[in-house]
Amino acid sequence: MSDRAAIDILQWYVAMGVDIAVDETPHDRFAEGPGEEAPPAADPRPALNRSNDADSGAPTPIKRGLTTPAPTFSANPANPANAALATEQAAAAARTLAQSAKTIEELKAALEEFDGCGLKRTASQTVFADGNPQARIMFVGEAPGADEDRRGMPFVGPAGVILDRMLAAIGLDRQNAYITNVVPWRPPGNRTPSSQEIAICLPFLQRHIALVNPDIIVCLGAVPVQTLLGIKEGVTRVRGRWFDLEIENGRKVPTLATLHPGFLLHSPGQKKLVWKDLRELAKKLKALGDRPAGE
Ligand code: URA
Repeated sequence: MSDRAAIDILQWYVAMGVDIAVDETPHDRFAEGPGEEAPPAADPRPALNRSNDADSGAPTPIKRGLTTPAPTFSANPANPANAALATEQAAAAARTLAQSAKTIEELKAALEEFDGCGLKRTASQTVFADGNPQARIMFVGEAPGADEDRRGMPFVGPAGVILDRMLAAIGLDRQNAYITNVVPWRPPGNRTPSSQEIAICLPFLQRHIALVNPDIIVCLGAVPVQTLLGIKEGVTRVRGRWFDLEIENGRKVPTLATLHPGFLLHSPGQKKLVWKDLRELAKKLKALGDRPAGE
């Protein structure tokens, strides 16, 4: 194959969202439990013809150790009932770990220790949060993208540039706002996180919100709107509306739904709607006045 043809194929992969090399050979992940690696396929070559893998030039697969006990299976996990059970078990492990965190630092450490979500295997690092945890306003996005995965901070790519402009439009910046995502690991190819991945990560997000205890939450796009508010309607229908989100300490936190800044990159015509939402947000912040945060 010519170099040109190889480059064309790679570019096509990237355009289709295949932008990371996860493994050398395909695996049936449904046939494995979470946290389990499939046994290596038998090498069909006669023993004497096998090269020493260390000398073969093949990339060494990177495995992250399981520090959180992985759910175990007694039956075929490809069965949807077992897959649902696996998600529930991983979410339960997440809940226990998240609840044990008494500070934001402990929660970050707990998340970095947790290996129950498959997204962690393909991400290069955990993207926890950015901004000021004492801030009165907390923004929740969807998931890290390529730039965030590289730098370990949320909203530092093109969508982050728009978010920073949105903040500046109402006199905010990352010193007086706090930013996180529904899932802390980049989904391969920037796909939307699955409902299972979201369910597994949710206990960490809920604990995160409880520990920050903000006065206002802003859901950026459909994923946080669905995840936190349980709203299935499209975000364009509910944007600009306030909801009460009851958090762990029983407080009801005013929560605004708005469009995702990444959406504005592709649909700049929708900026006027977000501008309206930002004015709502500024009004609410003003109405809250100088009360100490979290009261
Ligand atoms: N999009 C998100 O939802 N979150 C990020 O951190 C970056 C892009």
